Amino acid sequence: MRVLTGIQPSGALHIGNYFGAIKQMVDLQNNSDLFIFIPNYHALTSLKDGVALKNNTLDAAINFMSLGIDPNKATLWAQSDVKEVLELYWVLSGYTPMGLLERAHGYKDKVAKGIAANHSLFSYPVLMAADILLYDAEVIPVGKDQIQHVEITRDIAIKFNNEFGDVFKVPDFKVDDNVATVPGLDGAKMSKSYGNTIDIFCTEKELKKATSRIVTDSTPMEEPKDYLTCNVYALAKLFLEKDEVVALQARYLKGGEGYGHFKAYLSTLIWDYFAEAREKRAYYVEHKDEVIAILDEGASKARKIATEKMRIIRDLVGIYR
Ligand code: TYM
Repeated sequence: MRVLTGIQPSGALHIGNYFGAIKQMVDLQNNSDLFIFIPNYHALTSLKDGVALKNNTLDAAINFMSLGIDPNKATLWAQSDVKEVLELYWVLSGYTPMGLLERAHGYKDKVAKGIAANHSLFSYPVLMAADILLYDAEVIPVGKDQIQHVEITRDIAIKFNNEFGDVFKVPDFKVDDNVATVPGLDGAKMSKSYGNTIDIFCTEKELKKATSRIVTDSTPMEEPKDYLTCNVYALAKLFLEKDEVVALQARYLKGGEGYGHFKAYLSTLIWDYFAEAREKRAYYVEHKDEVIAILDEGASKARKIATEKMRIIRDLVGIYR
C-alpha cells in the first residue's frame, strides 16, 4: 500500500505537525510503501523569502530524519525535484471546477485572516492533487485541516477517470482521531500562520517561554481545576501514557497546584520527549551531505514513477511533443 504525505517547509516544525502527521508516518513506514516529500512549491504561496525557503527545505529533511523517518524504509524527496508535478497540476486544472476551489476552507480561512488572495493560494489544492495522483498514492495521513484537500483530490481524480478510464487511484485520507487538531497556545488550531505554535526544535528557554504563554482560565491555585477545558492538559496528554493521564487528571481535581506548575510539567514532558530527536538533529546538521544524498536518491525514485505516469497522461490528453 502506498502512503504519501507532505509538510510545508514554511517555518519551524511544531508539535501539531508532529502529532498530526509525522508520528503517523514513523509508524506507517514499517508496514507500507511510505512516500514523504517536502512541498516547497506549496510553501511559495506563503513564504516570499527565497533564502529562508531554501534553508527550510533542507532543514525539513533533517527534521524528518531526526524524528524517526528512516530513508531505508521511506522515500524522501523535495517536491521541486520532480518537475512533472507542475505539468500534472496544469492538466488537472482543466478538470477542476471553480466551485470546488471556492469552497476550500484552507483558502477561505486565509483570506478571512486578511492574507491577500493570489492565484497560487487559490489553486493550491490542485497542486496537492497532483502530488498525490502522480504517485498513485492510496492513503494520505494528515491532520483534520487537510481532509478537505484530500477530498478535492478525490473529486478531481474521479472526474478525470470518468473521462479517461482508471488512470488515477482515488486516495483516502487517514486521520488519527486522538490528535486530529492539536491546539495552539491560544486554544485555536496550532498553526505557523496563527503564531501560536510550540516548536519541536526550539531551545529549552524558548520552550519554557512558549508554554508560559498558554492561555488558561483564572481558577486560583488552591481550587480544583477542570482539565477538560485546559489547553495545558490537552497538550500534556499527547505525551503521556494512559495511567499518566489519569494521574494528571487527579492533580487537576485535587487543587493546590497552579497553572504555572502544569505549564512547567508540560515543558519538561516536551523537552524529554524530543531529547533523542535533538541529538540526531545535531548529527545531521553537521552531516548535511548525507541528507542531500538521501534527497537525491528519493527524488530519482519518485521521478521514475512520475515520468512513467506523465507519459500515459500526456498521451491521453493529447500532448505529444
Ligand atoms: P502543513 O504543512 O500545513 O501541515 C503538515 C501536516 O501537519 C498537520 N497539522 C496538524 N495536525 C494536527 N493539529 C495541528 N494543529 C496541525 N497543524 C498541521 C496537517 O494536517 C498536515 O497533515 N497542504 C499540506 C501539505 C501538502 C500535502 C500534499 C499533504 C502538500 N501536498 C500532499 C499531503 C499530501 C499542508 O499545508 O500541510
